[in-house]
Amino acid sequence: MTLKTKLLIAGAVMALAMPFSALAQPVAKGVWLGNTDGAAKTPPMGWNSWNAFRTEVDEAKVMGAAQALVDDGLAKKGYTYVNLDDGWWLKRRLTDGRMIIRTQIFPSASTTDGNTSFRGFTDRLHGMGLKAGLYTDVGHNACSQAYDLHSPNLPEGTAEERQVGLDGHVSQDINLYFKEWGFDYLKVDACGLADFAPDSKLVKDNGYIGLTPEIDRASLNRTDSARVEQRYAAVAAALKQANPDNDYVFSMCNWGMANVREWGKDVGSSWRTSSDITPNWSSMLHNYDSAVKRALYAGPGHWNDPDILFIGAGDFDADHLTEARTHFTLWAMMNAPLLISYDLRKAPQSLLDIWGNSDLIAVNQDPAGNQAIVAYDSDDAQILVKTMADGHKVVALFNRTASPAKVNLLASHLKLKGDAPIQLTDLWSKAGSTFTGETEVELAPHETRVFSVQGARELGDGVYLSEIPGAINVADDGVREPQLDPTVHRMIDPWAGTHSGGSRPQYAGWGGAQADMTPYAQALQIADHTYDSGIGVLGNSLLQVKNDGYATFRATVGMDDSTPNRDRAVTFAVYADGKLVAKTPPLKFGDAARDIAADIAGHKIIELLATDDSAANEQPVVVTWGLARLQK
Ligand code: GAL
Repeated sequence: MTLKTKLLIAGAVMALAMPFSALAQPVAKGVWLGNTDGAAKTPPMGWNSWNAFRTEVDEAKVMGAAQALVDDGLAKKGYTYVNLDDGWWLKRRLTDGRMIIRTQIFPSASTTDGNTSFRGFTDRLHGMGLKAGLYTDVGHNACSQAYDLHSPNLPEGTAEERQVGLDGHVSQDINLYFKEWGFDYLKVDACGLADFAPDSKLVKDNGYIGLTPEIDRASLNRTDSARVEQRYAAVAAALKQANPDNDYVFSMCNWGMANVREWGKDVGSSWRTSSDITPNWSSMLHNYDSAVKRALYAGPGHWNDPDILFIGAGDFDADHLTEARTHFTLWAMMNAPLLISYDLRKAPQSLLDIWGNSDLIAVNQDPAGNQAIVAYDSDDAQILVKTMADGHKVVALFNRTASPAKVNLLASHLKLKGDAPIQLTDLWSKAGSTFTGETEVELAPHETRVFSVQGARELGDGVYLSEIPGAINVADDGVREPQLDPTVHRMIDPWAGTHSGGSRPQYAGWGGAQADMTPYAQALQIADHTYDSGIGVLGNSLLQVKNDGYATFRATVGMDDSTPNRDRAVTFAVYADGKLVAKTPPLKFGDAARDIAADIAGHKIIELLATDDSAANEQPVVVTWGLARLQK
């Protein structure tokens, strides 16, 4: 159980003891709660076998990719993880529970005692300056055992021998993979919790041992999110124990379900925010949407993962370089893991140039870990702005449509002064240009233009919190019951076509904390006054902010005009390293915004609490930390 879960349970117990059904109100903690364990200070980069080879993976293909990473210079640019996905296993040996490798496709894994070992494989990768990643499942069985039944590389043997997932073997498997075999990265899938219902045709036809689903792919309400979190937390604990040097990455793969978009940051290095990407424009939009408005939930050590890149195939192949560049640019701006999944033994230069764009890699790998914020939002075009560690901005102008689009880029989108020149450098063409106030940019169909930006900051002596999402941990977003996110592009389901009812994604997260907008995607507004900068969040929330040397916190706060609950009052409080440093009186709907200021000099963790007196069965209160900022 994570520290946060423990604290929430303690809060819930207290709430039960109270006379009304008032909500458990969060309290300042004074310690950072987001996950920082593991080696993912910046988003992991490398190669993954899945989109390239599915289960038809083998040693020659993987080593060929590894060699190409080195030979093509991609390894030097940061692509160091070589991740073997589903398909590597033969069975679990029943005498001692040890996992046995399919040596037919991984010949170097064969040992004279029959134990099989990946040690030689990982040694070779390490010898090339690379790192090694492996795949498993958090349940009994893995995804190929449900979805790749035609595969020649499915686990073999009795039902028990075919239980290749972690369930019941967490420490044993993780010790084997990390201590004995020397892996550095583990992807943990979740089909074992979703697809093997005891009475299903799949289980009956294939003689599997069933497991009552804990993830219901079609229903968030029927998913046991707490149980799924617990299972992943147990894996995290075992990984930590097996890796005292902290050199490991924990990639969680339960496809945005079980409310992972809220708790993933407390548990692992990255978490998938959606279903599998396919090489279609529509699927790319879907996966992008699932992560792009979750900036406040990611940061150094924990990243939103909209899935492996599909550059090189379908709508993103060498004949569609505009789309391929867009896909890469968006993933770079979102601080997504950059995992190439292409047969690199035969990659054309045009694709190598995309993966190898050092400027965009630097955007993705910036140490501040600020995921881009959506500064302008529509179904047609979006403007994403990312603040780099040295304070300069990167902006991406994204045309989602198949028609040309005109986009006005304003100094205010960039939080730069409108009366001073702003210099742009195109990160694809490297061309430079200058504008003052605003400029119009024409985008080709599906095109994304991306620029590095230099200009005079609106806030000369500090930063708005919405510029530094990587320094924020949403310890409690105040969401009462996880709600489905309605903002994700719905594609024709690549698996079920139009039989699927219109792919209604089961991704919770609606109502979560947002930068520069309310939790329900409205402009921030208090008593008829709008705020371009600020944090929108629900009442009974706790935001943690890392203070990197600033002296003052300031904001203009109040109940947001869009709040669904207009009957209650909200109190804003600021804590510095656990000590109360500023507080407002209770503020109601329609009350004028209040300025709040706090001396935070020398303090490391600033906590922003918004508490209200609403009952559990009421609508939430929406609050706005307008112009929330740290200043010198
Ligand atoms: C899926 C996962 C893919 C891939 C595949 C393997 O559940 O999302 O990325 O790992 O399983 O079977």
